[in-house]
Amino acid sequence: MLEPLKRLEEEALAELHQVRGEAAVQALIHKYLGRKGRLTHFLREMGKLFPEERPVVGQLANQVKSNLEKATQDFLEKERQRQKAERLLTEEVDISLPGRPFPRGGKHLITQVTEEIVSIFDHLGFEVSEGPEAELDYYNFEALNFPKDHPARDMQDTFYISPNIVLRTHTSPIQVRMMEKRKPPLRVIAPGKAYRHDSDPTHSPMFHQVEGFIVDHQVTFADLKGTLHYFVQQFFGPDVQMRFRPSFFPFTEPSAEVDIQCVICQGAGCPVCKKSGWLEILGSGMIDPEVFHFVNYDPEVYSGFAFGLGVERIAMLQVGLNDIRVFYENNLQFLQQF
Ligand code: FA5
Repeated sequence: MLEPLKRLEEEALAELHQVRGEAAVQALIHKYLGRKGRLTHFLREMGKLFPEERPVVGQLANQVKSNLEKATQDFLEKERQRQKAERLLTEEVDISLPGRPFPRGGKHLITQVTEEIVSIFDHLGFEVSEGPEAELDYYNFEALNFPKDHPARDMQDTFYISPNIVLRTHTSPIQVRMMEKRKPPLRVIAPGKAYRHDSDPTHSPMFHQVEGFIVDHQVTFADLKGTLHYFVQQFFGPDVQMRFRPSFFPFTEPSAEVDIQCVICQGAGCPVCKKSGWLEILGSGMIDPEVFHFVNYDPEVYSGFAFGLGVERIAMLQVGLNDIRVFYENNLQFLQQF
């Protein structure tokens, strides 16, 4: 049995040296190693051997099988390499074809506007700070003088994570966090996301604000006016008019909303400004002494002002949009314009 096996191997290898092409090698594999191949047939016949012959013949048969498998696979690999080299030599590559465009990302309009706002205040010497979006009730409401169950909380209904943790409804908690950590003078600008139970063409459940505040000796309402006037002129242009309107926030006293002349109709009255000629852009005021008590600042020694801008509102005015939802619909055709 050993002799025919060795002969079978020699014959197979000799044939392999003579064939050309992948198909011929596959045929050879089929002929020797396939289900009805010669070696397979041989292995099946081993049952007829005397038991003492089987181990020796079996070992050689397995050896022959793996030799043939390796030789044919090596041959196939070489054949593939040869075909590839041939293709590279003969194929013409059109190097004038333009490459596939690689999509480049860009900053969302809201990010661009936030950066622009922050950079204006950066020029005035404000430092940038940030706070957590999942905020303690204490910082979001309590220390900003919204007592528990006070009706002022209703204006900022939000998402509660637990009874004591809310998705912050504004960026004002950063005022308290900074004052708690540091002593005056403070001059801070704090951009970030805020969340409220809101959804209509001008209100989104998630939106962005930029908070700004100063605490020092003898900070006055005139400083607040001067600072915001500078901001409005830098951002909207030197000719845009602004006005302060009395308002209420529990953490500022007095409080004011700031309107700018409608950038769409220049104050003449149009649907965007609801025919008033004015558009609200932010809330502001002098920091309430009650807030200073929470952070152990002496209101007899220090005073300060604060303001909070809605970034989406300002971006909408800047590019002339009347529906806030377009910012968050992931419509690239819209977003790529900016
Ligand atoms: C506040 O959030 C105060 N924290 C602002 C403030 C800061 C006052 C410091 C005084 C001192 P108000 O709720 O008005 O105020 O929101 C401020 C701005 O955020 C609004 O003018 C508006 O532009 C924007 N805003 C509020 N809710 C939404 C919303 N759901 N979607 C988009 N923008 C919103």
